[in-house]
Amino acid sequence: MVDMKLRIAFLVLAAVWTVAVTQSSLAAQAAAAPAARTVWDGVYTEAQAERGAATYQSACSECHGADLSGDGFAPALTGAEFTGNWNELSVGDLFERIRISMPPTGPAGVTPAQKADIVAYALKFNKYPAGTTELEGKADVLKLIKIEMKK
Ligand code: HEC
Repeated sequence: MVDMKLRIAFLVLAAVWTVAVTQSSLAAQAAAAPAARTVWDGVYTEAQAERGAATYQSACSECHGADLSGDGFAPALTGAEFTGNWNELSVGDLFERIRISMPPTGPAGVTPAQKADIVAYALKFNKYPAGTTELEGKADVLKLIKIEMKK
């Protein structure tokens, strides 16, 4: 009988402890999570997009088109195809895709900073607003900015 009471007391304590630990780790996660930003928050500058336009024209337009509309083989980087492919992903995902694989003939020929400029240009072309800070050429920073088709 005493044994039974002890066991119940132990189970209750264990349950209380589990709830407390779960809550404190959830609180820690919430505190660690940075404020979420999206492409609607002015995440690049006009000057950066202008630099990106120039690099895009020399390194990417041959396949993706001067107006970003693609060439049937290379996908469009604007319009429904672009927003459909990238909606809900992050600017970092887009940057990484370009950093690792574009241009296909030699991805290292364009620097990460220049690729961030090109991403800025693509955001501008897709009518996302400019702001006062540039996109950094770092995937982990850019992963915190979400691509959303609609505000
Ligand atoms: C020689 C042609 C060519 C050049 C130059 C080129 N691309 Fe591509 N790109 C492609 C092709 C083909 C694909 C699709 C197949 C693949 O992923 O390899 C693609 C895919 C992409 C994608 C993925 C699109 C999606 O929605 O899935 C992005 C983004 C991209 N390219 C950006 C760029 C950028 C930025 C540059 C310039 C730095 C560039 N590309 C240069 C041919 C090219």
